Amino acid sequence: MIHGNNLHQTEAMLRQAESIDAWAWSELNDTNRTNYSAIRGAYPFYAHHAKGAYLWDVDGNQYIDYMLGYGTIVLGHTDERVTSAVCQEIQSGHLVSPLWKPQQIELTKTLTSVIPKAEMAYLMKTGSDAASGAIRLARIKTRRDKVIRWGYNGWHDWATPRPVGVPSGVRKDVFEFTYNDIDSLHKLFKSHPDDIACVFMMPFELEKPKDEFLHEVREIAHKNGALFILDEMRSGFRLALGGAQEFFNIQADLATYSKSMSNGYSISAIVGRADVLKGISQTKMTATYFGSSAEMAAAHATIAILKQSDTIEHIWSVGQLFLNELKNLVHEHKVPAEVVGYPPYPFLQFVEPDAMKREGMKRKFYTIVAQNGVFFHPNHHWYICGAHTEADILRTIDICRKGFIALQDGEK
Ligand SMILES: Cc1ncc(COP(=O)(O)O)c(C=O)c1O
Repeated sequence: MIHGNNLHQTEAMLRQAESIDAWAWSELNDTNRTNYSAIRGAYPFYAHHAKGAYLWDVDGNQYIDYMLGYGTIVLGHTDERVTSAVCQEIQSGHLVSPLWKPQQIELTKTLTSVIPKAEMAYLMKTGSDAASGAIRLARIKTRRDKVIRWGYNGWHDWATPRPVGVPSGVRKDVFEFTYNDIDSLHKLFKSHPDDIACVFMMPFELEKPKDEFLHEVREIAHKNGALFILDEMRSGFRLALGGAQEFFNIQADLATYSKSMSNGYSISAIVGRADVLKGISQTKMTATYFGSSAEMAAAHATIAILKQSDTIEHIWSVGQLFLNELKNLVHEHKVPAEVVGYPPYPFLQFVEPDAMKREGMKRKFYTIVAQNGVFFHPNHHWYICGAHTEADILRTIDICRKGFIALQDGEK
């Protein structure tokens, strides 16, 4: 559906929210933010509802959704099989702390059977919970304090990309290395011999691992007595059922999961070696809602569907179509941009060297596509889900074409 640019209700709600909702305030007033608020006037802010691969904003505009709740929606929005499992669990009482529901056994059984060589799992609620929990377990196991990390690993003090308000002491034991640069890892281990508890990393983001990069990282970590931990928040249950460990045939000591695991419900897990996970008994790593079983039911249902269906193959197939068509289009219109990512995570990276020009291009392109019913993020890779069809992809490509034509027109 082509809907032009009616965002009256959106604007009215933003004006109302700005003074009372700190999230809205920060989105609209923080000039450092790299979010899509820069494209205010063309981008939706409030969704009314979502179904399958689509969402509708409060003004009634329909979008093909490529952000999918930041990658949580793997089957499609409001999948009825998942919703019904959740409703059933809620109706039977889903928070009975300090007791647990049998759903917890079901889910840990499923996780340890689906994730390669996993022995034990610990359930939490958010990705940041799992990331922080995993590094604490690595510190307990190795009796070392320092951590080497790469990628986005959550908002907690040790990992946030914008550490304003974080005491410097918290960060002094956390070092970042450079992706696909094994020397940068060697250097850190050389500077801190016998001190590193773990290497904690996303398996990839926009750039793919070169040659045996991930295996080399693992080997170097182990040679130095550190654990190798994969942050599988985005790769788990989407890249492959068994995530990056299955896809790259690599064994992590621990791996952390959330997002696609439950098709949109708040749950996360640390999964891996039992001798490391048992360190939980030495610390306090619980929270009021960790035992809530509605999200466990969602995860259980989601993983069962992924196991029994060809959803992941479908995601790869339509994602590949998207990458191919978008590459052709970029070539045809001579757009200074590169199409990057694995098929489940496509993205368009503008490479115009002049930053002002580049931002202008992005603003124009993303304005046109949003106005024509495609919801992308300008500064975060996109996601494909099981509900996207080839027809959705081809429609998206037609809309991208409009965006590229507008860029060419702008140059004249
Ligand atoms: C790779 C990765 N790790 C960790 C996190 C943090 O998860 P959460 O936002 O659920 O705390 C995210 C969230 O986007 C992520 O993408």
